[in-house]
Order: sequence, then structure tokens, then C-alpha cells
Amino acid sequence: MTIEKRLADLEALRERSLQGGGPERTARQHAEGKLTARERVELLLDPGSFFELGRLVEHRSRDFGMDRTLIPGDGIVSGAGTVDGRPVYVFAQDFTVFGGSLSETNAEKICKIMDLAVVNGAPIIGLNDSGGARIQEGVVSLAGYSRVFLRNTRASGVVPQISAILGPCAGGAVYSPAITDFVFMTEKTSYLFVTGPDVIKTVTHEEVTKEELGGARTHSAVSGVAHFVREDDAGALLAIRDLLSYLPSNNLDDPPRRESREPADGGRRLDRFIPEEPDKPYDMAELVRGIADAGEFLEVHAAFARNLLVGFIRLAGRSVGVVANQPMHLAGVLDIDASVKGARFVRFCDAFNIPLVVFEDVPGFLPGTQQEYGGIIRHGAKLLYAFAEATVPKVSVITRKAYGGAYCVMASKDLATDFNFAYPTAEVAVMGPQGAVNILYRRELEEDGPDARAEKVSEYVENFANPYVAARHGFIDEIIEPSETREKLIAAFGLLEGKRSSLPAKKHGNIPL
Ligand code: HXC
Repeated sequence: MTIEKRLADLEALRERSLQGGGPERTARQHAEGKLTARERVELLLDPGSFFELGRLVEHRSRDFGMDRTLIPGDGIVSGAGTVDGRPVYVFAQDFTVFGGSLSETNAEKICKIMDLAVVNGAPIIGLNDSGGARIQEGVVSLAGYSRVFLRNTRASGVVPQISAILGPCAGGAVYSPAITDFVFMTEKTSYLFVTGPDVIKTVTHEEVTKEELGGARTHSAVSGVAHFVREDDAGALLAIRDLLSYLPSNNLDDPPRRESREPADGGRRLDRFIPEEPDKPYDMAELVRGIADAGEFLEVHAAFARNLLVGFIRLAGRSVGVVANQPMHLAGVLDIDASVKGARFVRFCDAFNIPLVVFEDVPGFLPGTQQEYGGIIRHGAKLLYAFAEATVPKVSVITRKAYGGAYCVMASKDLATDFNFAYPTAEVAVMGPQGAVNILYRRELEEDGPDARAEKVSEYVENFANPYVAARHGFIDEIIEPSETREKLIAAFGLLEGKRSSLPAKKHGNIPL
């Protein structure tokens, strides 16, 4: 065979692999408002950086007429590339090829790039758009999923893993994204469920649309499976690039450092920010933006458990993870969802050398049978465990209430927090004044009436509803003015940059799951 013929054959094969499932299916994909796998990879990566692997891989199935439908690449576009110049490994399921369903060879392609990512210390990004296990392949496909799950688990805490759900994602296919660190979904075009509406109707007689069951709203606001929702593919892919800018490439690296950029007024207007009335809400997210570089706060899980904020900021160019009570929702109380949300975020930051800052204004754990029966003890313990276990630099700022068990949980001094600050408006106590007076003076109040109550409350406020008792004990290192927050935090994280702290050697802890 001549060299010209060999080159022409290669060119034809390459051309064939670019076409995926063909122009009709590609048009259908576009008509649904979705991009193709290749278009997605191109948008995600720096222009021209995609280094494709396995574009000639074909499936090995010969039943059900599959021997007549061999498509080079077999429905997975995979390889490496760069985001802001840093290497990442990526796979994208091509819905135009057998509905993006997972074949044995698909799984091999995914595993290959996961193994390379771990060895080379680079993030793994999965772009999911799949009808699940390739039905024609049976158990071989299921085994492929198990291989992917194994690698997801072993890569956890070694390299960041990010999943985008950009179409259907059904059955066991949901569990790979669920193990990864961050899940993105698109509005209207993405679905995640273990069993679809038809099966549900047969088994439980419930009627539910796929949007209600597993759409972006459901998973971002109700189940908490999705951390980010964006309008469409392009929005989700650009948001992944933004998220990566806060993360190190692996657990032995530090996050990338940027130039410091002052927020609008350097955080100076914050002195009047906390309301004088102790029960008046204020927007903690605004306070966070007020002290962050360029006023930017990348909120994670923004629609889920809104009583707790988690996300990333930069302080003098350093990535910092934020955990903050949000008085605008449920008065910033800790409940089951907030505890789980916070714990997972803290553990991510700790695994990847991202320091933590905590802003605390919490009246306590949410009381009630719903929370107790739901296991607030077990779930609340997760957040406590996560903060106690974290060895990255930790700094807390009590802005207002720090009551009871929630004081302990939210990075108190004795959970090995490095620096603890409080505003003059802080109240550090076992419980709020009204509740405390009810318990301490029940008998006197019955006898002496409401005037006595007001007096007791004000005595309690005088003694306990301030940060000075905690400061005298050394539980608070310094009482700061709100307008000093940014400079104090920058100084604190600068001092903590060389922090070395490790846990006793063990196989792993047993976080209360
Ligand atoms: C093989 C599949 C497929 C699958 C879809 N296709 N799913 N091929 N295996 N699992 C093919 C279709 O035959 C069709 O081929 C093309 O993909 C597009 O599918 P449509 O149904 O036409 O598309 P749409 O109407 O958009 O519906 C998408 C869908 C639906 C919702 C994903 O296809 C669907 O329900 N698929 C099955 C989902 C499922 O139950 N999967 C198994 C889950 S169990 P043509 O040639 O017409 O283009 C599982 C176990 C994993 O995954 C366990 C791991 C532990």
C-alpha cells in the first residue's frame, strides 16, 4: 500500500470519528439546545489545547446487529488539555452515539484518562449526557461502571473531580457524578435519577415529570445533589473554568495565586453593616463580598440549605473557602441540610489545601421533631467532625450570635481553629437571653410577673450577650471592627501560610454518615 493511501485512510477514519452518530442526530442534539461532545470539550479547554486519546476505539459487541454499527471513538470524546494553562483530563459522552450509553470500551476510555489524571496530578472533568448502561452489552457495561466508580473513589481527595450533567443521566450512571466533588447541571436539558418516571409509576403509582423528579431545580434546591446550575452548556462549561481557578491541581499542590484586587471600598463601609437589633436579618453574602478580592464570591450549593453559605473567595490573591451562617434564611440556624452541605465543603477544602474562613451568626440547631427524627444529631456531628478534622489554616469571625452547640461546631477555638475574631456585636452564650431566663428564673417569673422578666433578660444580656467573656478566656483572640475584617484575615492567612499540622496515622476516620 502506498504512503498516500495510508495517509488517506487515516484521514478518512479521523473524519469519520468527528461525525459521531451522524448529521441527523447532531441536528437533533442542537435542536434540543445542547452542544455535541466535541463542541463541549472545545469550549471547556483553552483553544487548541485538546490532546485526544482513543479516537479510534470501537465497541466489541457483536449481538443485536451491533457488528454493523461501529463508530470510531464509540461515543466518548476523551483526552487532556489545559484550562488557564494548567493540565486537566476530560471525557465527554456523545449522546449521538447510542444515546451516550456506556459500553465496555467507553468505560476503558474513561478509566484510562482517570488513571492518567491521578498519576499526573490533574483534575478530572466528566461531561455526562447518557442513557446509562449500553443495553446491548449487559453485564459487560455494568462492570465498566464499577471500574469507573472504583477510580472515582480512589481519586477522591487526590485530584479534584468535577461532573457536568448536560443531558439525561439515569440508573447507576448517577453514582459516578455523585462521588465527584462538584456537580454542575443545566436548566431544562439535564436530568439525574436512579429510576425514571415510568418505573416510579409502575412501582409506587406516583406520577412525576422527569423535570420534577431529577431536573436542575430539584437537585440544586431539594436533594442537594447538584452544586451549580447554569442556563446552558456554554454557561456550565465556563463556570467549570471559573471554579478550577480556585482549586489546586492535586492534593500536593497549592491553589493558584492571583494578584490581589481590592473590593469596591476596601471593606471599609462594614462598620455599620451588622444591625443593632439582634434579631434583624442581614445578608451575610454581602459581607463576604465586601471583604473578598474584587468583591467576588463563587457560591457553591447556592440554592440548597440557604441558611448556610459555602463557597470560594480570594484574599490578597489566595483561594479561601468560606463557611458562613446566613441570617436571611431561617435566621442562620443549623439544620440537617446545612450541616451536610457545610461538612462536605469543609472536607473538600481540607483535602485540597484551601484555607477556611468561618463567619458565624447562628442562634443554634433547629429544634423540632422533624429534625430530631431526621437525625440532626448524626448530621450535625458531620459538620463538627469536619471542622475538627480539618488541618488547613482555619480562621473564624463571630459577627453576632454564637449560641450553644452551634458555637462549638462553627470552628470554635477548641476545635483547633488557628485564629478566632469577633465583632463588638458578637454574643457568645449557651443560649439566647429569652430562653436562658425562662430556664434560670421560671419560679421567680411566675411569682413576680413581666417586669422581673425584662430585668433578668437585661442582666443576662449584660453578662453574656457580648464577646468579652469569651475574649477574657482566650477563646477569642481579638475583638475587631468590621471594617478591619479584610486586613485582619489577609494578615492571618499570611501568617498561617506555612502551617503544618497532621492527624494521628490511621486507615481513615469514621465520620458519622
Ligand atoms: C443503548 C441507548 C440507550 C441505552 C438510549 N439509547 N439509551 N442505546 N443503551 N441505555 C439509544 C436509543 O436507542 C436511540 O438510538 C438513541 O440512544 C437516543 O435515544 P432516544 O430514546 O431516541 O432519545 P430521547 O427520547 O432523548 O430519550 C433519552 C433517554 C432514553 C431518556 C435517555 O433513551 C432512555 O430512557 N434510555 C434508557 C435509559 C435507561 O433506563 N438506561 C439504563 C439505566 S440502568 P437511535 O439509534 O434511535 O438514535 C443503568 C444501570 C447502570 O444504567 C448500573 C451501574 C451500577
